[in-house]
Amino acid sequence: MTSTPALQLRKAQHVVVFTGAGASAESGIPTFRDELTGLWERFDPAQLATSEAFRADPSLCWGWYEWRRHKVLQAQPNGAHLAIAELAMHVPKLTVVTQNVDDLHERAGSQDVIHLHGSLHSPRCIDCGLAHTLPLTSEAQPEDGSRIEPPRCSACDGYVRPGVVWFGEMLPEDAWGAGLAVAQECDVFLSIGTSGVVYPAAELPLRALGQGATVAHINPVRFDVSSQEHFLEGPASVMMQSLLREAFGNHPDS
Ligand code: APR
Repeated sequence: MTSTPALQLRKAQHVVVFTGAGASAESGIPTFRDELTGLWERFDPAQLATSEAFRADPSLCWGWYEWRRHKVLQAQPNGAHLAIAELAMHVPKLTVVTQNVDDLHERAGSQDVIHLHGSLHSPRCIDCGLAHTLPLTSEAQPEDGSRIEPPRCSACDGYVRPGVVWFGEMLPEDAWGAGLAVAQECDVFLSIGTSGVVYPAAELPLRALGQGATVAHINPVRFDVSSQEHFLEGPASVMMQSLLREAFGNHPDS
């Protein structure tokens, strides 16, 4: 394997950037499985991130997602989000496919982001599915673990639920179909800040590799990959900015 991700980026026609929670870590948004700091170290996903959990205790579940949503409202895109938005100006086509439910890619300037696991900013009625609009002002930051009664649907009075994909739920068909399609046709696939343990999202790098794309993983924690894949060991903001410089020279905000 002689070529490098930077050389491949330079001649790529279509780049896919696939992100996980690690891409937002430097914005202060907790990941899920990092030692000590990950959300699943401190909270039980079965108690919070399933539809059964919501129906059993809507206020506990809603309060937890409101705490997460307010953290995102108060966060800023980091160097990785900005470099990914910048990369779009150097390649003919760039698609961001994210597992994250924050809007930091969009706030960094990325367009048409595919959200495989939904978004904290798109709640809907758990019964009739009607979209619900939440106030964007981040009033008082809810304490983590505080119970907040979910809003009610204006059409049917059902509970409003978070617009995220819970464990045991299917991914939105259009998002999954779009993510699969771009993984199958891209030349370069950058997998940034994901532990790669949650399917079907974790299938995407394998699909890209299978059709001959250059696949590179960016993560400060090295894990095994095939000899055909690249591994850029380090934090997403540092690695993405140096990859951009190596591929396209000093970009404006370097
Ligand atoms: N830069 C890049 N990667 C980082 C950074 C950083 N600064 N900090 C941590 N990481 C890496 C961790 O080493 C880990 O491999 O980010 C990864 C985060 O993994 P997870 O916490 O498992 O998050 P993710 O892969 O996005 O989880 C997938 O699981 O709980 C569900 O729906 C949830 O979308 C989520 C899915």
